Amino acid sequence: MTYTEKKMSWIRKNTLSFLQSLAVKIIKCGRIPQHVAFIMDGNRRYARKNKVAGIQGHAEGFNKLAETLQWCLDLGIKEVTVYAFSIENFKRNQKEVDALIDLARKKFQRLLDESDRLTENGVRISVIGNMSLIPEHLRQLMAKAMLITKDNDKAFLNIAFAYTSRDEITETVKTIAEGVKNNDIDTADVTEKLFSKCLYTSRSSDPDLIIRTSGEIRFSDYLLWQISHSYVHFSNVLWPESSIWDLLIAIFHYQRSYADLERMRLYQKAIDQPCSFRATTFANKIENNRRKLLEQLAVAIAHIPPKSKINPSFVNIK
Ligand code: FPP
Ligand code: MG
Repeated sequence: MTYTEKKMSWIRKNTLSFLQSLAVKIIKCGRIPQHVAFIMDGNRRYARKNKVAGIQGHAEGFNKLAETLQWCLDLGIKEVTVYAFSIENFKRNQKEVDALIDLARKKFQRLLDESDRLTENGVRISVIGNMSLIPEHLRQLMAKAMLITKDNDKAFLNIAFAYTSRDEITETVKTIAEGVKNNDIDTADVTEKLFSKCLYTSRSSDPDLIIRTSGEIRFSDYLLWQISHSYVHFSNVLWPESSIWDLLIAIFHYQRSYADLERMRLYQKAIDQPCSFRATTFANKIENNRRKLLEQLAVAIAHIPPKSKINPSFVNIK
């Protein structure tokens, strides 16, 4: 089985048929979710079904992601979060892990090469996850991509990489505990709102809609804090085979449930405790520290040869 990777761009041209464009116009008459999160599942089953190498399934998965991003832009969806690599995925066989990391490295390099086009479309890239688990060269490419797109504000693409919710929540508890220990905040300042502001997703709104493909009915440790009021849509299609019709069907179901979702969200908003001044100052400090760390990483990239070998012990870096 061979693996051939097309030089697929992150930004695709609109290739909708007349009927698909018409369906997009109709669905846009209703409420469009502002933030959609995807669990892109079924790449390896797609590869097996089509008798190609597993990594080819992931490469086709990336192509489908690029297509989906264009559909989301056409639909007016402002923010997209995708589960590209879970911390659990490090437990897959080493060949697949290396291949996935290498695919991400190539795609982030390409993203940097075409950053002008991303800026033209106003797309801001964020990587959410435990950066310390990501091999150095990829981590630096990601840092650079985040920094050069940081002022874009038309659309937001969040890529969950080396991510699990339990890790995100654990890291957030540590950040807040440190803040209390250093007298930046008091335990009375610790509210749900402050917690949200210290998560990897601090700059994002909570998803309105979460979509998982491939027929698996579970969340796989994805955005568990953030999806308490999201509409959840499970579809049977394998991710690389999904089409705009699958996205439109999910949005249609979301629209039918919108009134109930909004009622719950408004209730939550009414009981939310606001952040104290100390808590807001602390959250801003955390944000600034994260940006400084990105800047340090992005500077370091100039000194690393582009194809530096992946450090096999990276899983233990913490
Ligand atoms: C799940 O399918 C998919 C993944 C673990 C990887 C998803 C990655 C991509 C689509 C590429 C994205 C790349 C970037 C740079 C954003 P699976 O492997 O669990 O397939 P299966 O459920 O059929 O076994
Ligand atoms: Mg799977």
